[in-house]
Amino acid sequence: VVANSMHRDELLFSYKGIPYPITFCSPESFKALESFEARSDDVILAGYPKSGTNWLRQILTDLIAVSQKKTPGSESSASDEDLEEFPYLEVGDVEKYERMTKLPSPRFMVTHLRPENLPKSIFKNKVKILLLIRNPKDVATSFYHFSKGLASFPSYDNWDDFFRDFMTKKMPWGCYFEYVSEWSKYTDKENIMAITYEELKENRALGVKNIAAFFGIPLTEEELQLVVDRSSFQSMKKNSDKTHGTFGNIFFRKGGVSDWKNLFTEDQNEKMDKVFEEQIAGTKLGKKLKY
Ligand code: A3P
Repeated sequence: VVANSMHRDELLFSYKGIPYPITFCSPESFKALESFEARSDDVILAGYPKSGTNWLRQILTDLIAVSQKKTPGSESSASDEDLEEFPYLEVGDVEKYERMTKLPSPRFMVTHLRPENLPKSIFKNKVKILLLIRNPKDVATSFYHFSKGLASFPSYDNWDDFFRDFMTKKMPWGCYFEYVSEWSKYTDKENIMAITYEELKENRALGVKNIAAFFGIPLTEEELQLVVDRSSFQSMKKNSDKTHGTFGNIFFRKGGVSDWKNLFTEDQNEKMDKVFEEQIAGTKLGKKLKY
């Protein structure tokens, strides 16, 4: 993977005021997405980039396999090519949503979009959404390292420049703080379950149990143990050649809590604390975040 030398204006386009990477999304497919018909048994994982999406994606894929009486990680549970194409709801070509109408249930989707930019049918049909949130300091840290490794995202020579952009809404998929405060307005709905990266890190077994219960998937002790073992950072990193090819190293970096302490200056720390306090500390999700 080579870091890019292209300017951010060549890599990102703006849709409804939010920047997105040109290589993954397009204004045309966003338009097509608006009329996407969700099914009530679709399974959706929502999270801001770098919140642990790939981690939860594996846990959910495994739980869906269990619900279909398949063994997680086995040959028979591997998603077929059709499904592989679709995990990121907003990534793909215009015809993708038409192809998705032919997929069997349950369809599994991942999204970094804010609720107001998701197709209305998702809320109308009360699709279950697992919402993942992570401490913004660790999100920013993870995002900074990730941007250096992915040619589709603007790359930054230094952390200070990245921090400035992170705080001024210039990230692909928009501003973290707006993301959390927008989703906070939806967390009372019974079809949405919020989980934090930090709580899952503290007790993976409990997290997996709660997620399975939310989606109505019964689990034996053995199945629970298998899903928990397969989702350890070490196991996922080891397996990442197979799951993520050459991107393995940038998706599975440190997998911990508080790495931000190696990057933030005192001044940056205070700045973020202030914005956190002003914009999300009082919201439902803000209160749930260990900060
Ligand atoms: P770090 O960069 O802090 O290591 P996303 O999948 O949304 O892009 O998020 C990536 C972050 O999730 C990375 O954080 C990555 O290491 C972490 N992650 C991935 N798998 C994990 C796991 N099994 N346990 C804990 N963290 C994990």
